[in-house]
Amino acid sequence: MYVRSGEESHAVNHYRGPMIMDRFLRDIPKAELHIHIEGSLEPELMLEIAARNRLVLAFDSVEELRKAYAFTDLQSFLNIYYQGTRCLLHEQDFYDMTWAYLNKARAQNVRHAEIFFDPQSHTDRGVPFETVISGIHQALLEAEQKLGLTSRLIICFLRHLSGKAAMETLHQALPFREWIAAVGLDSSEAGHPPEKFTLVFDQAREQGFLTVAHAGEEGPAEYIRQALDLLKASRIDHGVRCLEDPKLVDRLVADRVPLTVCPLSNVKLGIFGSMEEHPLKSMLDRGLFVTVNSDDPAYFGGYITENFAAVQQALGLGRHDIYGLARNSFLASFLRKDEKQRLLDELDDFMRKQIVISPA
Ligand code: ADE
Ligand code: ZN
Repeated sequence: MYVRSGEESHAVNHYRGPMIMDRFLRDIPKAELHIHIEGSLEPELMLEIAARNRLVLAFDSVEELRKAYAFTDLQSFLNIYYQGTRCLLHEQDFYDMTWAYLNKARAQNVRHAEIFFDPQSHTDRGVPFETVISGIHQALLEAEQKLGLTSRLIICFLRHLSGKAAMETLHQALPFREWIAAVGLDSSEAGHPPEKFTLVFDQAREQGFLTVAHAGEEGPAEYIRQALDLLKASRIDHGVRCLEDPKLVDRLVADRVPLTVCPLSNVKLGIFGSMEEHPLKSMLDRGLFVTVNSDDPAYFGGYITENFAAVQQALGLGRHDIYGLARNSFLASFLRKDEKQRLLDELDDFMRKQIVISPA
């Protein structure tokens, strides 16, 4: 039906292979399940929004901003990321940021996106919850109508803040219940275990929200267990440190728990020393249900295609591996069964149309 062997893609790489592979990675239908919308704010748009809001930022040129994006760990990134959110004040700002991401995603054939936002990083600055969600929601609606790109919205609670603050945020979200699919947990992981948020996640589930959580990014494998047992997470965001606990890996494999892995993010934040050391291939070989995502593309050097390209090159993935990852992205999504099937069919159609080019 389509090309299966890893050897084929290696052979082609000597000739026109890299270009053909890049196009394949860009054009293959895919879903993005781990993207912080505030992490998609490119320096150019950040400065444009800051200027129209008459704000002075700590950095006042694109070059200075990009130079500051040299991170040593998660916290060093978060310090800059939260500064970046400060330009966002009005509904139009949230709309523009989201619309820019959706257009980039569509150009990389993202057919469905599940998008995190961090309301507390805005409401704590005095921006009303309604302003934030209305701008984001309007862009998501337009993307479905004009770009044919479907989406779900996920509220993330900031784990460096209290469980009580998360509960207040959940209550602010309730009038917009219809616009939100799930709640999640992000920000500084070490020292902020999922158990701190058991109560608010209990309430969220009672209100009909699905749950996800960042766990096992910088924090220990134990936090993945807590996210599953206490928060009843349907997916684990990152989860790469599960590999330190073979029993947990067995459980994740047996229960088919999706892990939304973000390779460029992991290397930029020093979780792994280089892309060649990234365990994505070992995770797939071990039977884990892995997807590839961009996390904060404006900060980590690439959107979803660049993440696919980075692991494809560094780990020598073949087309069949990439097909498997794209397939996982639809299977692990919160789409309805019929919506999933339509996108899986589109993926299989795409694969059937691929031309096999053998070396001269
Ligand atoms: N918020 C934005 N990006 C994040 C990440 N990679 N980990 C935790 N919180 C985040
Ligand atoms: Zn993330």
